[in-house]
Amino acid sequence: MTHFLDIHKTDADDLRGIIDNATAMKSARQGQPKGTPDADQPLAGHMVALIFEKPSTRTRISFDVGVRQMGGETMVLSGSDMQLGHGETIADTARVLSRYVDLIMIRTFEEQTLLEMAEYASVPVINGLTDRTHPCQIMADIMTFEEHNGPIKGKKVVWSGDGNNVFASFAHAAKQFDFDLVFTGPETLQPEAALDGLYTTVRDPNEAVQGADLVVTDTWVSMHDPQSARERRHNQLRGYQVNADLMGQAKSDALFMHCLPAHRDDEATSEVMDGPNSVIWDEAENRLHAQKAIMRFCLNK
Ligand code: CP
Ligand code: NVA
Repeated sequence: MTHFLDIHKTDADDLRGIIDNATAMKSARQGQPKGTPDADQPLAGHMVALIFEKPSTRTRISFDVGVRQMGGETMVLSGSDMQLGHGETIADTARVLSRYVDLIMIRTFEEQTLLEMAEYASVPVINGLTDRTHPCQIMADIMTFEEHNGPIKGKKVVWSGDGNNVFASFAHAAKQFDFDLVFTGPETLQPEAALDGLYTTVRDPNEAVQGADLVVTDTWVSMHDPQSARERRHNQLRGYQVNADLMGQAKSDALFMHCLPAHRDDEATSEVMDGPNSVIWDEAENRLHAQKAIMRFCLNK
């Protein structure tokens, strides 16, 4: 069974194959209306379940459109509408879903839910974000970087802000794709200890971004964070806002990325988001292409 659970759980060669395939699929359908089927229909006859226990715009729509372009069908399900949200175990849900669908994508809270789904499903499971990681996002980010600035190997990537789930997948990617990752953020929001050794910390953001090829940030309050922590987090993270002054200290051709949704003028200013170094819309588009390649990889198509 080929699941896509985390970037460090897939071989580096396979990850590279996914990026190359995504890039080829993107260029093959350049300029066509979004609903036009791909020339190749690898998911013909396949049914895909897309389960969301948290809100989503990009993940939901890009997976749905991607499956359809490849000839498959989707069911978009919210956890609370399923018995999953009313006491049926994840293991039983996984066994049942496997009798109806060929592939499961799930966005959930605890990583354990994803892992149990993968353990008991007899079809591939894809991680559409948990409290701990967001691997599909970072596959799109690597694709986007390389599309604009060439191979990411050996490049300097600086993350400014919260050491959260999206950062964790960047840390896994740093090892697999061989780039240098720097975390700049408050000590109180340091990434989890399991990621130690995959990145370096530079507390001062101005120092951290010197020579950066890519500057990345994300929301200061994630979906799994309690709203009661909002003010405290904002106070801790304010000094790590990505603004024109900070971007100006990175390389002149440095890219700016944000997985979105963004809180404009909190973690990044509109000037940066809409500025010449920003590739956030390509990044969002590439979710579609990267995930199509991930689904083909999982289904061996
Ligand atoms: N970046 C991302 O995963 O966006 P959504 O929450 O809209 O899916
Ligand atoms: N860190 C954010 C990412 C959203 C795509 C969250 O988990 O809410």
